[in-house]
Amino acid sequence: MILSLINQKGGVGKTTNTIHLGACLAQMGKSVLLVDFDSQMDLTHGSGIRDPQYTIIDLLTGSDKKFRVRTRAENLSILAGSSDLTAGRFKRDSLKKALEPLKAHFDYILLDCPPEGINSFSLSLPEIALNACDNFLIPLFPNEYAVKNANSFMGRVMEVIKPKNKKLVFSGFFFGKVLVTSKKHKIYSEMMEKVAPKLMFKNFVRQDSQVDHAVSEGMTIFQFSPNCRAANDYRKLTKEFIKRTK
Ligand SMILES: Nc1ncnc2c1ncn2[C@@H]1O[C@H](COP(=O)(O)OP(=O)(O)OP(=O)(O)O)[C@@H](O)[C@H]1O
Ligand SMILES: [Mg+2]
Repeated sequence: MILSLINQKGGVGKTTNTIHLGACLAQMGKSVLLVDFDSQMDLTHGSGIRDPQYTIIDLLTGSDKKFRVRTRAENLSILAGSSDLTAGRFKRDSLKKALEPLKAHFDYILLDCPPEGINSFSLSLPEIALNACDNFLIPLFPNEYAVKNANSFMGRVMEVIKPKNKKLVFSGFFFGKVLVTSKKHKIYSEMMEKVAPKLMFKNFVRQDSQVDHAVSEGMTIFQFSPNCRAANDYRKLTKEFIKRTK
């Protein structure tokens, strides 16, 4: 399965969730490839890779016929990003074609996308990513700005992408960085359930300082602090994800 975590909004946990959903699937015995499809290269750097020799640009241009993905943990590989990645250099189906030979080697390929919108007028990186996908998820943080446009964003994605990629399925919204002492998560979950029934994950990831600490060490929380609350939450979230995408 090829999957994207997208949101036009910045800083809502796309990269963190891509890394940890992927790492959790890998721990469950699935073979996983994480692809950094964002020129910010947060997934690459957050995975402890500083100067990648082989990047997404090499994959897209086919400049090197060997797919030199990096192994970060058992069952978990990373295809590094590049600061030169921009949609203008590539065609809509470029990633779809480039991933074709890799598909057979992985149970899951997860694409980390930049915070860009989708529209019918110009090609963006998330659009190129979604064109290659079977599935997408929208991560949210429980705050007013993150939640208010989430459902219309999902609708627009379907409107623009689905005619060109008929197999694309939306598997749901989920919350990260949830402060359990605040009522906001409950309020926003109910709000989302009203506008998008059954599309909100029941499980969520709580705010946990271990997440930031792990990133600065270039590790996943499963390597850095396997029993922290975010690690436990990710295990539940991942089980729900598997159920929802069966
Ligand atoms: N459960 C959590 N607990 C604490 N901090 C978190 C949690 N999830 C994410 N964060 C922090 O929130 C910040 C934003 O997360 P992240 O970089 O994954 O968002 P993003 O959507 O990928 O951002 P961008 O739009 O810039 O790509 C990061 O500093 C990350 O460490
Ligand atoms: Mg990111």
